[in-house]
Amino acid sequence: MKSQRTFAIIKPDAVKKNATGDILNMIHTAGFRIIGMRMLEINREQAEGFYAVHAERPFFASLCEFMSSGPIVVLALEKENAIADWRKLMGATNPANAEAGTIRKKHAANIEHNAVHGSDAEDTARFELSYFFAGYELF
Ligand code: CMP
Repeated sequence: MKSQRTFAIIKPDAVKKNATGDILNMIHTAGFRIIGMRMLEINREQAEGFYAVHAERPFFASLCEFMSSGPIVVLALEKENAIADWRKLMGATNPANAEAGTIRKKHAANIEHNAVHGSDAEDTARFELSYFFAGYELF
């Protein structure tokens, strides 16, 4: 299978508890190349734009509040089958259902404060990568 790109976020809860280094290590150990990385804070409107597909969900306001509550690390990842493999390494959205060895099992507190984000398909990966990275910023 040919190389594929996906988009990831280390969320404010994981950055706050100093889990960034461990998560980056898990990413490298799993065979991903980090081709883009930046630490930043986003405001409420920027979080709403990123999560626009969830606008009608009851948790949307709280999710956007949380995602703009502190620094995040945005990542562009590359490997064969990157989208599915990153979702597997993250573990289930709700850490109560996450398997042993996954990032969410180790670092997430609950379904909202769930440590990491990952694109769920090729079209969302394209949108999410372009939301945070210009083409020239990727290696
Ligand atoms: P993420 O992969 O970033 O995509 C959307 C996010 O919404 C998800 O991770 C969770 O953090 C959050 N989310 C999904 N379902 C719920 C829920 N039922 N209650 C609160 N937050 C949720």
